[in-house]
Amino acid sequence: MPVIDIHNHFFPSSWPDLAARYGTPDWPWIKHTEPGKADIIVGDRFFRHISSACWDPEVRLQEMKRDGVDVQVVSATPVLFAYERPVEHALDCARLFNDAALELCSKGKGRLKSFCQVPLQDTEAACGELSRCMRAGHLGVQIGNHVGSRNLDDAGIVTFLQHCADEGAAVLVHPWEMFGQERMPKYMMPWTVGMPAETQLSIAALILSGAFDQLPRTLRICFAHGGGSFAYLLGRMENAWHHHPVARGECEHPPSYYLNRFFVDSAVFDQHALQFLVGTMGAERVMLGSDYPFPLGEERVGALIRQSNLSQETKNRVLGGNAVRYLGISAESIEFTEERSDAASTPPAAVQAGQLTYSSYLKVPELLGLQRPQSSPPHHDELLFIIVHQTYELWFKELLHDLDAVVANLLKAGAALQSRDEVYEAARLLRRCTEITRVLVEQFTILETMLPTHFLAFRGLLEPASGFQSEQFREIEFLCGLKDEKMLRYHKPTPEAYASLKRRLEEPSLHDAFFGALRAMGKLPPFDDNATDRERFEARARAVHELYKHEHHHRDWIDVCERLTEFDELVVSWRLRHIQLVERIIGIRMGTGGSAGASYLKLTLDKKFFPELWEARTLLTE
Ligand code: HEM
Repeated sequence: MPVIDIHNHFFPSSWPDLAARYGTPDWPWIKHTEPGKADIIVGDRFFRHISSACWDPEVRLQEMKRDGVDVQVVSATPVLFAYERPVEHALDCARLFNDAALELCSKGKGRLKSFCQVPLQDTEAACGELSRCMRAGHLGVQIGNHVGSRNLDDAGIVTFLQHCADEGAAVLVHPWEMFGQERMPKYMMPWTVGMPAETQLSIAALILSGAFDQLPRTLRICFAHGGGSFAYLLGRMENAWHHHPVARGECEHPPSYYLNRFFVDSAVFDQHALQFLVGTMGAERVMLGSDYPFPLGEERVGALIRQSNLSQETKNRVLGGNAVRYLGISAESIEFTEERSDAASTPPAAVQAGQLTYSSYLKVPELLGLQRPQSSPPHHDELLFIIVHQTYELWFKELLHDLDAVVANLLKAGAALQSRDEVYEAARLLRRCTEITRVLVEQFTILETMLPTHFLAFRGLLEPASGFQSEQFREIEFLCGLKDEKMLRYHKPTPEAYASLKRRLEEPSLHDAFFGALRAMGKLPPFDDNATDRERFEARARAVHELYKHEHHHRDWIDVCERLTEFDELVVSWRLRHIQLVERIIGIRMGTGGSAGASYLKLTLDKKFFPELWEARTLLTE
């Protein structure tokens, strides 16, 4: 799932002199002060220091990469809204900046998308510009939370919101022109106190006026800065709605009923606040919004969410899953856009010839974008920790791929005894599995270059994630024949993993396929119905013993037996090395998955996939 920041801002590096263009004073202009730095001036009043991240796509892309953000949806800045100006000026200004946004995005390698702005003081002009922008490639619109004294429940604005729903445009409501400024002349209080109240007012207006009852559910609307003070004061509003008829307004239901009609962003800068916001709004209603690259924005975009105690599933939703819904796009379309823009930047000849590149075949950019440290600033060793685990998972994938083929070959070998090809192929693939597992045993040494103190510096951020949740490790166990239904409980949070493990429980294992073939060869007589587990085990061990006794007739099968034994041996070595690593790094601490840690893991050392192959050795005589 991509990581999508739906609230951040841009300024072009230059634009026409608006005061001269419209013949009116006090328009914003940009004054470059030193390389990479500029000031925004409104008329002759200083407004804000900005940096090249506002206008330079390369700087943005680099910082997005640093922060693990896949897509930014950029918006202009409320200071450019011009809602108080003549509509023709506001429309012209909107067009200038809307086109500038698209130009910036065109250099964003598919990672930059945009919201337009509209002259909201005039519904017809606003609807017209929105439609133009949606056709041109914007994903929606950023609007101010009021037009002078008109709140969002104003009839004209509600008509505009209806038009947004019809056009499939996402709406981002940004507070601006804060009220009560005469009482907040200092300390940025209009931003810290006024903005949250403005936003709360807008949400309350849409709810209490009955606008949400009137507007279609297809409207996708989001309020910036966590919805301002709304979530925190919802209880107060709810209480008023139930107990004071004058506070009820025109809406059909109490305020909390409307929570599923809008989104809020995550720009609240405090873990408790984020937790509370997700608790109040629901995990499906909060999205990553950073206010990047402004001074009050999140310094490392997404860090608040990543470092929170929210479940991984909720984090995924808040970081990008919800934005996919809000923006009305599909996660696949983002990858497609990236691929398309990568292709666009390769020489035309290569594209025409349809040649693959090293990087497009191996998906190198995607692969290198998959390491997302939780620590902020990232702890140096967390990258190693992630890469080592990811490498294990890649090899687990290959192991499953090969072991599945081994099972298929052994099943065929059992069904057609005269054909030897399948037995040779099974042995060949098993050799690959043992070589991979040998590498997996060795790989722990790389992780042991991490000091225990370094791991402890970020371990707390990983809970409750644990190796117990490695679906592929468990699949390997189940596929080889060590089926333990109890282990499914660790996969409850991920339904797909749960389902595929459940499937593995039901499918024939490598153990089943191997002994099925020995039965077909007549080495393993059918069991009595009332045979005990022990008797069955001993019969299987005797079947293996038979093979070894008549080695010359069964060289191919002996080869399979030796490979299976070696694989078993190496998996035990893996378990042992893992325990040594655990003891070396966390001592006898409990695991993040809730087990007793190393002492629990030691109990798994007795697990074998093919204990009969080991037992057969005892049966052999000199
Ligand atoms: C700092 C390094 C590591 C530590 C401290 C560590 C710790 C632990 C602990 C304590 C457990 C027991 C379950 C729990 O309560 O969480 C566990 C299980 C597990 N770990 Fe690790 N681990 C580390 C590295 C790795 C690596 C690199 C892998 C590679 C895939 C891995 C894979 C697993 C697996 C598959 C299990 C489940 C084992 C089973 O159920 O038999 N661990 N780990």
